Amino acid sequence: MKKATALMVLVLFLGLIVYAFAQKEEAEKMVAPDPAAELAKSVANGKKLFNDKTLGTADMTCNSCHMEGGTKEGKMGETVIPAWDNLAPKYPKYFAMGKRVMTLDQVVQFCIVNPLKGKALAWDDQKLTDLTAYCASVKKAPKKEEK
Ligand code: HEC
Repeated sequence: MKKATALMVLVLFLGLIVYAFAQKEEAEKMVAPDPAAELAKSVANGKKLFNDKTLGTADMTCNSCHMEGGTKEGKMGETVIPAWDNLAPKYPKYFAMGKRVMTLDQVVQFCIVNPLKGKALAWDDQKLTDLTAYCASVKKAPKKEEK
């Protein structure tokens, strides 16, 4: 009789340990998403927004001026818009159109409000983050000859 009770307690105890480990794994999955995957998701969403006319009212997208996703030189009137290559480390910097020093997300906001004639996004709006993440991700396309 005593042996059976001890065995039951042992089984219960082992069960509890297994359960605790399963819960811990579940909790870790919830609090620690993969940082690289999260960034990739943000960049992908920003790329979609880059081609979204509803950000503004000018019947244009970011891509109308920052052509081929920002990888190609564009023009706005007389202004030459250089192709992008690894923008993030260049900011904050003096942004001529804004007539002051700006961060990269402030420049993105500036382009939403001015060239696109859209409504400013809230500074904590995920759309602003995603667009900025996309702009920061753009690297100069390698020339086809060099390979
Ligand atoms: C009507 C044309 C136009 C549209 C549309 C436009 N931009 Fe711009 N953008 C410009 C011009 C002009 C500049 C300044 C170019 C320069 O001085 O390097 C600029 C600069 C930028 C820069 C800084 C680039 C650098 O080299 O430092 C970023 C980032 C940017 N725009 C993002 C966006 C985003 C995101 C959108 C869409 C929400 C957008 N732009 C829409 C014209 C436009």
